[in-house]
Formats: sequence, structure tokens, C-alpha cells
Amino acid sequence: MSVKVVFFSRNGNSKRVAQKISSALTCEMAEITTKISWKFFWGFIKGGYYTSTDKSLDIDLLGEVKSDDELIIVTPLWAGKACQPVRIFLRNHNNPATVVFTSAGSISTEKDGLGHIKGTYDIVKKFENEDDVIKNVIDKFSNN
Ligand SMILES: Cc1cc2nc3c(=O)[nH]c(=O)nc-3n(C[C@H](O)[C@H](O)[C@H](O)COP(=O)(O)O)c2cc1C
Repeated sequence: MSVKVVFFSRNGNSKRVAQKISSALTCEMAEITTKISWKFFWGFIKGGYYTSTDKSLDIDLLGEVKSDDELIIVTPLWAGKACQPVRIFLRNHNNPATVVFTSAGSISTEKDGLGHIKGTYDIVKKFENEDDVIKNVIDKFSNN
């Protein structure tokens, strides 16, 4: 079993956090992608719509996740929840997972609805807590 960082990112914040964690833990990363574009104004609207209505969509994974990997999943907060591509990923994978949210101003409201998750962390831009939260995540996984 190894620890892997899995992320989805529309604007780069979750990608940056994923890179910091994977480089500190020297573990592999995998990126969730979709054929749907989430860019620009309509992409923003679509992201909120897909997530709040739990709309189905196809995802791809750049990288490999084995069934016994322990995952650190980094996701933007969309409409108070993990973004829909990550929600779909979690539904399709039963790995033990810790979820790190990045958001502009609010904290994830969805702690239970994600299924088999061991814990959550919230990186909130307006709290300027990115480095502190990343340190907590790294400390937790370094002691494992
Ligand atoms: C569709 C959509 C919905 C969002 N909803 C929220 C929200 O409910 N609360 C919040 O604080 N930020 C919200 N945001 C802001 C993002 O969570 C935040 O900018 C995040 O760090 C973006 O990560 P990324 O750069 O990896 O895409 C939303 C952004 C998008 C695109």
C-alpha cells in the first residue's frame, strides 16, 4: 500500500496544493480530468449546476491508482461540496481517502456525503491557512 495524491483543479489552486503535498511526502500524483470544459463564465455555472444536482459525468485519470492505495484527494469546493468530478471519482473508488478542500471563502458542508473518507481539511483563501493546513496533512501522513 502506498499513499497517493489525487487532484482535480480548474484554476490551479488544488493542483498547487497537491504538488506541495506530493513533493513533501515524495509520493505519486494522479489528476482527474473530464472532457467537459469548466472554463470561463459558463464553466463556472456548469460546475455549480453539476455539483449541486449531482449530475453524472465521465472522468479520466492521468496516473495510476491501485485498489490498496491510501489517497489524499485535493479538490476545489464547488457549491459547498467536493467538485462533481471528485464526487464521481470517490463513488468509483473504495480506497481509504482524506479530502483536502481548497476554497475562496467557505468551509465544506459535506463531511458525510462523500462515503469512505477518513477526514477532511479546509484550505480557505480568505483565512490564508494554506501552508498551515498543508503542514498538518504532511505531519499526519509522515507519522503513518
Ligand atoms: C463552480 C464553482 C463553485 C464554487 N463554489 C464555492 C463555494 O461554494 N465556496 C467557496 O468558498 N468557493 C467556491 N468556489 C471557489 C473555489 O472553491 C476556489 O477558488 C478553489 O480554490 C478553486 O480551486 P482550483 O483553482 O483548483 O480550481 C467555487 C468555484 C467554482 C468554479
